[in-house]
Amino acid sequence: MKLLVTGGAGYVGSVCARVMIEAGHEVTVVDNLITGNRDAVPDAADFVEGDVSAVAADVLGGSRFDGVLHFAAQSLVGESVEHPEKYWYGNVVESLDLLEAIRRTNTPRLVFSSTAATYGEPESVPILESSPTRPTNPYGATKLAIDHAITSYTGAHGLAAVSLRYFNVAGAYGGAGENRRVETHLIPIVLQAALGHRESVKIFGTDYHTDDGTAVRDYIHVYDLARAHALALESAVAGRHEIYNLGSGSGFSVRQVIETCADVTGLEIPVEEAPRRAGDPAVLIASSDKAISDLGWSPTNTALPTIVADAWEYTRALGDRAHSAPRA
Ligand code: UFG
Repeated sequence: MKLLVTGGAGYVGSVCARVMIEAGHEVTVVDNLITGNRDAVPDAADFVEGDVSAVAADVLGGSRFDGVLHFAAQSLVGESVEHPEKYWYGNVVESLDLLEAIRRTNTPRLVFSSTAATYGEPESVPILESSPTRPTNPYGATKLAIDHAITSYTGAHGLAAVSLRYFNVAGAYGGAGENRRVETHLIPIVLQAALGHRESVKIFGTDYHTDDGTAVRDYIHVYDLARAHALALESAVAGRHEIYNLGSGSGFSVRQVIETCADVTGLEIPVEEAPRRAGDPAVLIASSDKAISDLGWSPTNTALPTIVADAWEYTRALGDRAHSAPRA
């Protein structure tokens, strides 16, 4: 297939672009490089720099595409609380412009990068696709709004669409991994502390009702996540919008993640206890049964030490290219 990948210079988008190319697809990446890295875009992909709203219509109108994988987004929960305008314009308005470009050019398929943040604080775990969607921050609210827009476009205009709700993505693949200018995610922060690029890891909250008092998350390897995108693209049916959760199905606490990182790296990781981070649910664990049964998805890298080992190999190899590396 000929595919447009928005946000293909970002972490998840660049890994998915690689996996699509390996599967024999032809990929054009659109990215404005505000948070993405140009050198994360696979060499075999065409690259167009710009906002989705500015360039997607021309790209899709320029030749016939079989599908769009839409990753481009603002994705920091805390920032979304402080600057919701950045999320409503940057996520919703940009995505509506993309949907319009897709409709006008009769591009048949869309796979959208949705999130567990659409569910908010769950009533019970594991979280099913039928669980209530009550986002606790603007980031989750904007992703949910886009999901609703996609549902109405598929019904009215015959688009074949799949939304994938990611839980906590980590790990690396094919030389692509987490190297953000502003890092807020637990595993890269812990590995940066192991390398001495940070003084310590702050544990946000030690008074949750969990076994060790710290928050529990479901970590999914970025390669397993990317493979789900390939399956989603093949499974998409005209006029339907399917939604799938993607996780590994087991939860690890913040302390367990830090211990695993210490084991994998063999290095000491200084920690300090800190208050809870606003908007953080206590426990998020996915049921991915629907993706497993409907898509034939079979995650293979579900062990946390494997996910951390791949992230560590990537982080260590970054050297001076790491955004967290101490500058001279
Ligand atoms: N945490 C710390 N210290 C840190 C960073 C994180 O204790 O320095 C904790 C967080 O408080 C949380 C856990 O580690 O309890 C995981 O935090 P992350 O920031 O790595 O991930 P989140 O669970 O907050 O967010 C992820 C995605 C979001 C998505 C969300 C869905 O990054 O995009 O899952 O729940 F919205």
